[in-house]
Amino acid sequence: MITGYKKFKFDKIKYLDGVKSLLLKELKKISKNKKINFANYHTHIKNEQHQLIQWKLAKYFREKKLHIVCFEGIRGFLYRYFGQSILIQKKPFLRIARPFMPEDNIGLHKDTIYGQSPYEMSIHIPLMNLGKKSCLKFVKNSHLINDKKIEFIKSKTFVKKGSKQHKLGKPYEPKKIKPNKYNEKPLPLKYGEFVFFSPAIIHGQEMNLDKNSTRFSFDVRVSSKFFPVEFNLKKHNGSYIEFSKSPIDILAKRYFDNQ
Ligand SMILES: [Fe+2]
Repeated sequence: MITGYKKFKFDKIKYLDGVKSLLLKELKKISKNKKINFANYHTHIKNEQHQLIQWKLAKYFREKKLHIVCFEGIRGFLYRYFGQSILIQKKPFLRIARPFMPEDNIGLHKDTIYGQSPYEMSIHIPLMNLGKKSCLKFVKNSHLINDKKIEFIKSKTFVKKGSKQHKLGKPYEPKKIKPNKYNEKPLPLKYGEFVFFSPAIIHGQEMNLDKNSTRFSFDVRVSSKFFPVEFNLKKHNGSYIEFSKSPIDILAKRYFDNQ
């Protein structure tokens, strides 16, 4: 973990399997298409339909709190890293990156530059195997680079603050980091694996270069209730809900309730 990111495996894959099949069922329903799956998504969905479908699917994901279901499968892992009073992002991001569509990606970035605390860790979970061409890239030890010294590329965006695109996880003021400057390396993942990483790590992808497969993944922020983060000030996609509570936390609260 010293390099700022690490690959892990689900302890109990059945929770991820359950979420995956619910999402696939919903995708078939929304698109009214029985032949569609995650990988062949781009061959069935026209560009003009894409945004609405992603919106509906992301909404379904959030309303059913599928990230909480999924996190059941890594509860032991979470306890080891955060203790038992765990907060998770209320509205996680469901990402869909079609082949050769740069607008489906947010490029290389550091989430601390967007205001995320280094105490708010991220978990990236793919819903399929991701090879070298379709996976995200990460820069080892980039949490040690001063955020103020990072080199950006100038980029324009039409994403408006509070818009659907913004709520789907695209920044309205993108601060894209120059590719090939910091030695980013692809991190292929098998289904059932996930990446646990610091928001200070340079990560992302310019474009999904796998012509045969759309990438479906989601990412969730996780923290401890006792980490020095101003959770009450978080808004938009940054707010948290409780995932679990330590027995001591419960005991102490009960004491204070009676004083
Ligand atoms: Fe990110």
